[in-house]
Amino acid sequence: MLAGKIIRSLLVFLFLCTSSLVAQQNRVIVNADQGEYTISRHIYGQFSEHLGRGIYEGIWVGEDSDIPNTEGYRTDVLKALQELEIPNIRWPGGCFADEYDWRDGIGPRSERPKTVNTHWGMVTEDNSFGTHEFLRLTELLGAEPYISANVGSGTPAQMQDWVEYMTYAGESDLANLRRQNGREEPWKIKFFGIGNESWGCGGNMTADYYADLYRRYQTYAKDYSGNELYKIASGWSNAEYDWTETVMREAHDMMDAISLHYYTVPGPSWENKGPSTGFGEELYFDGLKASLELDRYIEGHATRMDKYDPEKRVALAVDEWGVWTDPLPGSRSGFLYQQNSMRDALIASLSLDILNAHSDRVRIANIAQTVNVLQAMILTDGPRMIKTPTYHVFHMYKVHHDATLLPVKVTSADYRYDGESIPAISTTVSRNKEGVIHITASNTHASESQEITFDLRGTDIDRIIPGRLLTADQINAVNTFEDPDNVSPVMFDDATISNGTVSMTLPPRSIVVFGLQ
Ligand code: AHR
Repeated sequence: MLAGKIIRSLLVFLFLCTSSLVAQQNRVIVNADQGEYTISRHIYGQFSEHLGRGIYEGIWVGEDSDIPNTEGYRTDVLKALQELEIPNIRWPGGCFADEYDWRDGIGPRSERPKTVNTHWGMVTEDNSFGTHEFLRLTELLGAEPYISANVGSGTPAQMQDWVEYMTYAGESDLANLRRQNGREEPWKIKFFGIGNESWGCGGNMTADYYADLYRRYQTYAKDYSGNELYKIASGWSNAEYDWTETVMREAHDMMDAISLHYYTVPGPSWENKGPSTGFGEELYFDGLKASLELDRYIEGHATRMDKYDPEKRVALAVDEWGVWTDPLPGSRSGFLYQQNSMRDALIASLSLDILNAHSDRVRIANIAQTVNVLQAMILTDGPRMIKTPTYHVFHMYKVHHDATLLPVKVTSADYRYDGESIPAISTTVSRNKEGVIHITASNTHASESQEITFDLRGTDIDRIIPGRLLTADQINAVNTFEDPDNVSPVMFDDATISNGTVSMTLPPRSIVVFGLQ
């Protein structure tokens, strides 16, 4: 019996030795002549809440600031965000939205009331950034506004008034008030959220109660003057599928989308999320692994939606996602200020691959949040500004905006750590309107390169367009105000193509984009 055990152990040992010597094959089969769904550019949306230094200092400094600005918006941040071609921005929250009275944020700034931001640090909100400032920002960025309206503490009449104020072209007191405040033409407002996290900070409601309220409030979210609101119901987070089921059952024919929130927490619990800097391989691996959970949550909610909407008319709006770590030591409590590393860039690329792959249902998503909050694109320090590794991922992934998702079959090596494993590679392949195919691919492995082949089927494309590669010498590498380009993309022209097979080697912890024509 003992001899049998020893032989079995030896066999397992021999198997492990040989399998680590033979590099596992990474192979992606691309059906280039197929593709049913468009990757909506709105999957690349942003979220900017009245939270910490996200809006005040991060975006808005006011016209009298010493920080160079354009109409009160930081010029450096504006330029960096313009380069991202942001399709939509969600505002004013988040939790803040369900306490927000839109009337506080209109009229001469010096006369606007001072209120308290009770969710985020109990700070004074001077309301200098309001409806006009937000909608002007969307114009400067070429983005669609996504207004998140107050259901938790507001009335349907307040909501209706806000929509009339913004979108009515005719003669009414509210439209005239807008004109008096400097805006003659109404704005076009598309995305309109009816409540946020109504199960939590947005009112602590039950699913049945919210479903009824949703039906009531959406009745008064009217289409004025040819404007057409795209109504988004408040959904739950993670695996709370019953909420989705109830709200869909009661109101699916009165909405365009229902939301899902998913935050990647690298640490062991919500109370111990882990630091955003200086972490080791355990929190790197756990962060990437946690981000992959988004796939099964989307599947779970989509399955419940299929029951009431098999045609997939109603979209799943993943309108809050991203890494949530412990705040940076020394930063103000309630401001959710964290650094952003090479790990977080990979969490962004893996999450975007998942969102893209679910383009049949997911047609809008919003990373949390744009500047200085959670998984930000940009960090600021007084007059200084840096682009984060996540910024670069969003820039590299622009090639997928409104492109056709090409079906892929991925065979991936494993990235093993401490008895667990995740796929070593992740990818999105799309074809744009000009017929150019773009590949984005990530190597999640902390220390090993990956050889990858893409077998292109149904196309005779044979030319590679060089692209860009994002990598860093450390899994926890960050950009700092002293070293702003520590993690930034370099040119990539190492892929080769022969007989319809693209071959390349991706360095450890890296993300690549390139084209094929
Ligand atoms: O993004 C920070 C907060 O996370 C939002 O305000 C809220 O909706 C979510 O809980």
